Amino acid sequence: MKQHALNFNSGPAVLPLEVIETSKQALQNFNDTGLSILEIGHRTEAFKALVFETQNNVKNLMNIGADYEVLFLTGGATQQFMQIPYNLLNKSDSAAYVVNGIWGEKAVQEAQIWSQIQVVSNTTNENHTKIETDFVVDKNHKYLHVTSNNTVEGTQWHQFPKTEIPLVADMSSDIFSRQLDFTKFDLIYAGAQKNLGAAGVTLVVIKKSILENNPENLSPILDYRQHIKAGAILNTPPVFAIYVLSETVKWIINNGGLNSMEQNTFEKASAIYKIIDDYKDVFHCPVRKEDRSFNNIIFNMPKELETNFLNECKAHKFIGLKGYRTKGGVRISIYNAMPLEDVKILGNFMLDFVKRYV
Ligand SMILES: Cc1ncc(COP(=O)(O)O)c(C=O)c1O
Repeated sequence: MKQHALNFNSGPAVLPLEVIETSKQALQNFNDTGLSILEIGHRTEAFKALVFETQNNVKNLMNIGADYEVLFLTGGATQQFMQIPYNLLNKSDSAAYVVNGIWGEKAVQEAQIWSQIQVVSNTTNENHTKIETDFVVDKNHKYLHVTSNNTVEGTQWHQFPKTEIPLVADMSSDIFSRQLDFTKFDLIYAGAQKNLGAAGVTLVVIKKSILENNPENLSPILDYRQHIKAGAILNTPPVFAIYVLSETVKWIINNGGLNSMEQNTFEKASAIYKIIDDYKDVFHCPVRKEDRSFNNIIFNMPKELETNFLNECKAHKFIGLKGYRTKGGVRISIYNAMPLEDVKILGNFMLDFVKRYV
């Protein structure tokens, strides 16, 4: 039985109940090995088979071919802020970055340590309430980096920029929540703890061609090519986190794949946005409508109402609704594993709140 709380956390976040159940079993006996998943060797046939199967499942889900590699790395998405420019940029190279929020900003700060970075679009002056698409990218840059979903600011790219240079995306908070043409991307990364499982592993999907003509003599543990050469098991990887990711990916496949995830995500987010739009005096979403995120819904309320709202949510065990620590407001995170029923319970509570206070 799962605890009786509705988990709207932005990450680590809600997991499918089935994944928690299979993980419990694997803690006792992983794939009939007679050992716990916590005990097995990372170079055993059983674990290698798990890694191989998961790589294939990820590729099938993304509809990408042998020209892509799938890695399970550590250090979170934050480490990728460093590892991407470290691997892709020679000292004479430059890259273009879009800044639509705090995570994009952090990616730029790290990348600037390694090479020349041009910020081609920055929505800071609009308080990151929209996504701008009318920017120009010099094709001499090695790649363009975007954050596909801005977890804190509640915006999302619904149409990715068309570029002549490789596209790199931080998909930490919307990976596998929708159908995309993943072949348009050259590198995709996502910390697992939102839509892919438990914290501790980062999914990194790389088109092999982007690794050509890159710096040599990198520190091996940070070198994508070394991880690929070692079949994604260069050193001891986060075995349990990879197991949970593997089960979560299977759960997505067994529940209709990305089309189904997209429909469900849209239905859940639309239910909440409808209430926000119907009661604009109470719930104010600052984000431009066409750029709204379907995974992280943010809004502000008149001060006193907001305090009451959050206190009542706490009493009802609706968890994780307080906005990002430096931003305030309310944030409702709705990932794949969040049941529609839970969203409806929250929605009914919002309607009831309006009735009682307004
Ligand atoms: C879009 C995005 N990028 C990066 C990060 C940082 O991820 P991590 O904590 O895995 O380093 C987060 C965390 O919430 C995020 O939402």
